[in-house]
Amino acid sequence: MSKVLYIKANAKKEGESRTFKISDSFIEEYKKLNPQDEIITLDLYEEGIEFLPKGELGELHTPKEGTGKDHPILKYAYQFLEADKYVIAEPFWNLSIPSILKAYIDYITVTGITFKYTASGAVGLCTGKKVVNITSRGGDYTSEPAASYEMGDRYLRTILGFLGITDFTTISADGLDIIGNDVNAIVGKTIEKAKEKAKNF
Ligand SMILES: Cc1cc2nc3c(=O)[nH]c(=O)nc-3n(C[C@H](O)[C@H](O)[C@H](O)COP(=O)(O)O)c2cc1C
Repeated sequence: MSKVLYIKANAKKEGESRTFKISDSFIEEYKKLNPQDEIITLDLYEEGIEFLPKGELGELHTPKEGTGKDHPILKYAYQFLEADKYVIAEPFWNLSIPSILKAYIDYITVTGITFKYTASGAVGLCTGKKVVNITSRGGDYTSEPAASYEMGDRYLRTILGFLGITDFTTISADGLDIIGNDVNAIVGKTIEKAKEKAKNF
């Protein structure tokens, strides 16, 4: 049985996010195929994720062994470590990820929990896990020169690689705000891709 952490980051009202239409379809399909798995949904806005608090960084970055599972911030790093698979869903904002998702990354990137320092540098402790990142974008960043401006999915791939997760798949719906594009068709096609991926995730 796998533990799947479904991380959602969007300020839009319930039912309005194109990104979540795709990611929810992925989850639905995944549940059908893997009814025994546990899926934990973490909506970052509902959780009220904030910036790291001033003055507490020392304590946060040297957690004492075995403690912190009930700490309001460290609990997220332990929860992240305990999952086997991650589904991340976020829209593309200002060439990157929504800042609440960056704040969450600051919560879970903790020395001694999700990575550690060794004599030869930092080593990720989240090995053997996999991620699917589901996003949608107003413009089309699938080819150059726009692809170089894409710093959201690329950032997630890099930071999660730092934590030891190298199995990273991206599913994106691009060009959703380009006038004349058939948005329903693009979203529909991306939902099909997401359902296909759910079969071997
Ligand atoms: C705050 C904000 C910033 C955005 N920045 C970009 C951007 O830099 N590039 C882009 O192509 N689209 C940008 N968009 C458009 C969204 O990526 C696009 O509409 C996306 O499909 C929204 O997904 P959603 O329906 O799940 O919210 C931005 C939208 C918002 C609300």
